Amino acid sequence: MDVSAAMDFAVAPAPAGDGKTFYIETFGCQMNVHDSEKVAGVLIARGYRPVDSHQDADIILYNTCSIREKAAQKVFSRLGAFRKPRWAERRIIGVLGCVAQQEGERFFERAPQVSLVCGSASYAQLPALLAQLESGNRRVKGLNLDTQDCFEIEFTRRDNRFRAYLTVIEGCNQRCAFCVVPMTRGPERSRSGAKIIAECRRLVDAGYTEIQILGQIVNAWQDPSPAHWSFAELLSRVAEVPGVRRVRFTTSHPRFFTSDIVQAIDSHPTLCNQIHLPVQAGASDVLSRMLRGYSREEYLEKIHCIRRAQRAISLSTDIIVGFCGESEKDFEQTLSLLAEVEYDQIFSFKFSPRPNTAAVEFVDSVSEEAKGRRLAVLQEAQRQIQLRRNQALVGQTFEVLVEGYQPRLRQAVGRTTDNKILNFAGNPADIGCYRQVTVTAAGPNSLVGERIAD
Ligand code: 5AD
Repeated sequence: MDVSAAMDFAVAPAPAGDGKTFYIETFGCQMNVHDSEKVAGVLIARGYRPVDSHQDADIILYNTCSIREKAAQKVFSRLGAFRKPRWAERRIIGVLGCVAQQEGERFFERAPQVSLVCGSASYAQLPALLAQLESGNRRVKGLNLDTQDCFEIEFTRRDNRFRAYLTVIEGCNQRCAFCVVPMTRGPERSRSGAKIIAECRRLVDAGYTEIQILGQIVNAWQDPSPAHWSFAELLSRVAEVPGVRRVRFTTSHPRFFTSDIVQAIDSHPTLCNQIHLPVQAGASDVLSRMLRGYSREEYLEKIHCIRRAQRAISLSTDIIVGFCGESEKDFEQTLSLLAEVEYDQIFSFKFSPRPNTAAVEFVDSVSEEAKGRRLAVLQEAQRQIQLRRNQALVGQTFEVLVEGYQPRLRQAVGRTTDNKILNFAGNPADIGCYRQVTVTAAGPNSLVGERIAD
């Protein structure tokens, strides 16, 4: 891996790591992916070198996800590979992220080969924690949730050469009944507008043209500085930074979704035609038990506002099936909402009870079998919608940013502003370029097209 090419800025490594190597595996959401990029930046700044396999690493880090039980289990299966103490003795194994926060010090009992346990709210302490490890301490933890700190570092090792993540808010103050995130990521902390714009400028200088603004609830962002920009204003300012060609933002909560966000998209072509607005369920009763803070009708009002925009904006959502007490009738309301909104993409999950959430006290009344059936029905309904919507695009021309190349098919892999994958006959030199492509065929998950002259 060419590390320097993926760094934001040149950096003279400090000697502490002394040429030692590290490996990070990341599970879960984009926030985790970006956290790992920043953690890698911290390690490189201390003189550690990234490697592509845990076998070559002196420090092995797992950045974990606990959103559903299955995700949380993954880290324990990874750690199972390191049971042989002699092998583990020569390495430092660390667990970061949401499972680290959730399990806390119990990790040291459950997995004695682990030397570092650190939740995301304590990442600002990482250099100090690393110093403790370097001086031989084998039980190091960062588990404080009561923090005002954002994870601010001077440089980040970015894994994508074109799209850069930019965190604007960390943590979550909501208390959705199903969700473990407020307990694992701590309270909301917003970065100032000025800091965000400064980072955006640095990203452009480093060659990035697409900015992905991140926050667990991105539109709960509140400018802590006297400027008091609204979230829509922040989007507009980022969109206006010279050199920025595309801006996306995720994830929005319907409760804080205001019409000025749509107006900002309307007046800034660089704000992509894409909004991710998790609904979670179609029945107001279920939404109320989930403590989402909106009804079906209120959610649909937001969708109508988005549909009235001057540009067609593609919509995606998250849906949980089989939440406590969800009846067949309730589930049908989720299906009818799907038909009404016609999303371009959905991410759908079976409800999984999580520790320390309100719903863990509710009766998990829907059987595993019914959850599985509802998920399959939902996904098939959505597949049909996507196929129909994508086929309607045949003949239209889109600008794509080319993100990859598939040698076997000799196809360049592009992405439209609507976040659709559009492949076309191209070559590796297309990677990183913007191309005009006319759609010639469509499946439910991607489009195929032909490049036309720019
Ligand atoms: N069970 C199933 N899905 C969940 N999600 C969050 N918590 C749970 C849970 N306990 C889903 C929601 C959220 C997405 C990131 O994960 O749909 O928006």
